Amino acid sequence: MASERRLYALKAFDDTKAGVKGLVDAGVTAVPTIFHHPPESLDDAPTHPHGHQFSIPVIDLAGLVTPSGRASVVGAVKAAAETVGFFQVVNHGVPEAAMSGMLAALRSFNEEPAEAKRPYYSRDPGRRAKYESNFDLFQSRAASWRDTLFMEMAPEPPPPEEIPPACRRVAPEYVGLVQRLGRTLFELLSEGMGLRRGYLEEEQECLDGLSFAGHYYPACPEPHLTLGAARHSDPSFLTVLLQDAVGGLQVLVDDDKNQPAWVDVPTAAGALVVNIGDYLQLMSNDRFKSVEHRVVAKSVGPRVSVACFFRADASTRVLEPIVTDAGGARYRSTTVAELVRHYRAKGLDGVPALQHVRI
Ligand code: OGA
Ligand code: NI
Repeated sequence: MASERRLYALKAFDDTKAGVKGLVDAGVTAVPTIFHHPPESLDDAPTHPHGHQFSIPVIDLAGLVTPSGRASVVGAVKAAAETVGFFQVVNHGVPEAAMSGMLAALRSFNEEPAEAKRPYYSRDPGRRAKYESNFDLFQSRAASWRDTLFMEMAPEPPPPEEIPPACRRVAPEYVGLVQRLGRTLFELLSEGMGLRRGYLEEEQECLDGLSFAGHYYPACPEPHLTLGAARHSDPSFLTVLLQDAVGGLQVLVDDDKNQPAWVDVPTAAGALVVNIGDYLQLMSNDRFKSVEHRVVAKSVGPRVSVACFFRADASTRVLEPIVTDAGGARYRSTTVAELVRHYRAKGLDGVPALQHVRI
């Protein structure tokens, strides 16, 4: 639990409603203590030489136009989902202009004067569009060097007036394009599990809910003391991430033989990063891997990224393995609401949410 002194500092920071960007604008030259991560979280000693087995594949979706090309794309997606849990896609159908426009809009929102952003700053769970710094500010052990514009975009987007003007037109357009890509990805993943193409979308409704997290990572005066995002796996079926050219995203790769190692996700112009989330790991009975990742802080910046989480639109949604192998189901049936409770508690007990429902 947070000490009284820490709580006081967290509250003071939160009350500014100006986020980390506000600290940077005020000219801080030292990272405040509330952002200091413990040394074991910062230790990035185990980094692997770029051995073949650790690379994050780039998959060209242009292959989908022919049946043989499609088969090889399914094979590549399946192989990535079963190992590193991350891949990048190119020729994915989201135009470059839509990607750069989305990043520019998010950046301009974050760089508006604090007074313009303050009305959007909120921790109200009922609010569908909000600006916040660290959704788990009061739960986590250490705050991260990041601000976020968070919006529930599907099944219903927020009323336009609740979306900051800088993103009002661009964000829904970008999300529409990501949903179209999502349909393709869920088709490929269905086939990769040996199910019919429409299974994850139609039977499992994986495309019905989408949350948007637009992140802004200001340049950090002491990057060795904090993180842009602490290690976590995603509470989603699947996540599609758009990042700019700054970099900093790392994936914890474990090949069972070596020590787990943090591997950089390279920035690639025009590419989108895709990763398997916890819900799909559970549904695939551990065939597909929801892999932990983090974002390191950097002295250069800002870095801007947009994560689109495909997730169930109702907290009553039941999750259970949809494919099993000889060993039987590895997870008991659960609900999104139960997992979300575990995510909220993770900052305190450190146990990954899926552990709680593993048989
Ligand atoms: C996330 C996430 C990574 C990034 O939002 O869950 O992992 O690069 N983001 O911003
Ligand atoms: Ni993530």
